[in-house]
Amino acid sequence: MNNQELKALRQNYKKATFDMSQALENPIEQFKIWLREAVNSSVLEPNAFTLATVDINSLPNARVVLLKEIDYGFVFYTNYLSAKGKEIYENQKAAACFLWLELERQVRVQGVVEKIEEEQSDAYFYSRPLDSQIGAVVSDQSSELSSRKEIEEKFEYYRQNPTLIKRPAHWGGYRIIPETLEFWQGRESRLHDRVKYILQDQFLWVKKMLQP
Ligand SMILES: Cc1cc2nc3c(=O)[nH]c(=O)nc-3n(C[C@H](O)[C@H](O)[C@H](O)COP(=O)(O)O)c2cc1C
Repeated sequence: MNNQELKALRQNYKKATFDMSQALENPIEQFKIWLREAVNSSVLEPNAFTLATVDINSLPNARVVLLKEIDYGFVFYTNYLSAKGKEIYENQKAAACFLWLELERQVRVQGVVEKIEEEQSDAYFYSRPLDSQIGAVVSDQSSELSSRKEIEEKFEYYRQNPTLIKRPAHWGGYRIIPETLEFWQGRESRLHDRVKYILQDQFLWVKKMLQP
């Protein structure tokens, strides 16, 4: 792939429109509709999103995680001692970005992050397949791995001793409580539709259109 080829890559978006009259008053309800449409459109990993946090030196860091619950925020599960866990400990703010290319849509979220209740993390942890539970137990996520063999042996040990499998205290859910959400629908000639919701006074969502 050379730069000339890269520059020539171009799509014109024509699938849908999204304006103020289509946008529900509550952005979380609007999000659920778009997520449902993504699921129905056979998007691969429709609940995957890019999670951005910043480290103690304000260096942004982004990675993909999976959305697992929606209530008054967006819940994902991870290791609290991972790089993202440390970054959230230092700065409880995050951004999320969902991309559903098949629908020519993007949703961006900014908000404050909190840990969910332990019982909620337990409920999800024990609902996962056993191998996924073991994966969470044996991984010191984001720490250096000296050899693949080391972690595979740990994995096998828990497979042989399943009664030892417990949700580690450092594994659980985070909730991003949104303060802004932006819905982006690709349009022709780069005149895309953007509707941004901003939370005012903790309960009132104000929405506005943004230039593409
Ligand atoms: C499609 C996809 C889904 C993922 N889902 C999760 C997830 O739900 N939780 C998680 O901790 N990591 C998930 N990961 C791995 C993360 O992207 C990342 O590698 C890991 O969390 C370590 O990130 P950190 O070092 O910044 O903490 C996923 C990766 C991909 C590509």
